[in-house]
Formats: sequence, structure tokens, C-alpha cells
Amino acid sequence: MKKINIAIDGFSGCGKSSTAKEVAKRLAYKFIDSGAMYRAVTLYMLQNKVDIKDEAQVMSALEAISIDFRHNPQTGKSETFLNGAYVEEEIRKMYVSEFVSPVAAIKAVRVAMVAQQQEMGKYRGVVMDGRDIASVVFPDAELKIFMKASDEARAKRRQAELEEKGEKASLEEIVKNFRERDLQDSNRKESPLIQVPEAIVIDTSHLEFEDQVNKVLTLANEQIEG
Ligand code: CDP
Ligand code: CDP
Repeated sequence: MKKINIAIDGFSGCGKSSTAKEVAKRLAYKFIDSGAMYRAVTLYMLQNKVDIKDEAQVMSALEAISIDFRHNPQTGKSETFLNGAYVEEEIRKMYVSEFVSPVAAIKAVRVAMVAQQQEMGKYRGVVMDGRDIASVVFPDAELKIFMKASDEARAKRRQAELEEKGEKASLEEIVKNFRERDLQDSNRKESPLIQVPEAIVIDTSHLEFEDQVNKVLTLANEQIEG
């Protein structure tokens, strides 16, 4: 059967990753969370006290970074590893969220991540979520989705996720972080977050999770069968 690539872009916390993951599972495709890669780079920069304004330091950090996703057979989930170390939980913490957008704005960082992402999708059969997937990573993706949701819906969902992992954050703190990142991600020079004209918009504010998954699956099947 024909395989396609599916790009899901949009603002923070509107359901991109969880939808992409579920759609990939149901199509037996590969799911790639591109945000996890920028988060892993950010964690490395923080752990190694890299001065991100110093180009030489950034370049040698990038040479030292290796990111991979491994399938955990016990949970059925894909997990992020940085230089062989499990970082799936650490990269989701607020202190990483607060530093990730400036790191993701660095051209050299983007060039390195985009090259890896394109490699992962070259045989198609990939669902990738992020900010520049439809515009830069897979401009030829057969299906492009742009997701959005209200601040309230996004923040409540993210708060529940953090709480599940034992981290407490107020709704105000989460909204502030979303807005700051959305602003920086949309206004940066290098591949900013944009809605490409051919993208199909899904507002998840009032949708049940299952409904948004089904919407994407229906659109995907139209492309696969067409
Ligand atoms: O899950 P959440 O929306 O909080 O963020 P994420 O998807 O994990 O992405 C974290 C950050 O990585 C974003 O705020 C962007 O700064 C950056 N990012 C990016 O620049 N390009 C991508 N394709 C994906 C993420
Ligand atoms: O990737 P992005 O930052 O856009 O969002 P996410 O990491 O997928 O987080 C969205 C959270 O909201 C997840 O915990 C989802 O299970 C939950 N959720 C959703 O995505 N859509 C709904 N209609 C309801 C809840």
C-alpha cells in the first residue's frame, strides 16, 4: 500500500504529539516528536553549560550530541535518549521548556536537526509533529495539519501531564511559557512556525482526543487510498 508522510505543526500544547503518536500507531507508521529533539539539545546545553551565543561552543556541542528514539516494549512508547542516556522525562520539565525556544532559534541547531528528521522520513510512513515540518522538513508531505487550541484548554492539559509526572506548575506559569514560546517560535528568523496555505486546520479546544485522531486518520486514508 502507498505510504505517505504526515506533518502536524502548530502552537505549544494543543495536542500535536499525542495525536501524531496515536495516528502513527493506527497506521503502523513511525512517529517522530521533533520537539523532543530540540528539547534534548537544550538539555545538553544546560547540563554542559554551553554558552549558546558562542558559535564555536554550539558547533562543538552539536558534534557531541547524538539523539535517538527507542521503543519501550513494556509501555509501547517511544522514548528519547541523549548520548545513550534516557532523558524522556527530564526534557519535559519546565526548566527545559523555559530555555528551548532560544536554542531552537539557532541556525546550526536547526540545520542539524532538520537533516536527521529528513533522513528519518525518506522512505515515507512517518507522522512527525513540530513547528516547521510542513514548511521545511517535509514540504512534500501528502498531508499537512495545523493544530491550535485555546490557552485555557492547552494549559489545563499540560498541567495534568506535569502533575502526572509529579511536577506542579500553575496555569499562569504554563500559559506564560506557551505564549513566550509561541511568540519566539513564530518570529524567529530561521524556519519560524507558520501555517502553510495548504494545511488543514484543526482546533482541538472542544474536541475529544479520539475525535481529533479520527479526523486526521480520515484525511490520511483519503491520501493513502487516493
Ligand atoms: O510539546 P510542546 O508544544 O510544549 O513543545 P515541543 O513540541 O516539545 O517543542 C519544544 C520547542 O521546540 C518549541 O517551543 C520550539 O521552540 C522547538 N521546536 C521547533 O523549533 N521546531 C520543531 N519542529 C519542533 C519544536
Ligand atoms: O504536542 P503538543 O505540545 O501540541 O501537545 P501534547 O504534548 O500532545 O499534549 C496535549 C495533551 O492534551 C495530551 O496529554 C493529550 O492527551 C491531551 N488532550 C489532547 O491532546 N486533545 C484533547 N482533545 C484532549 C486532551
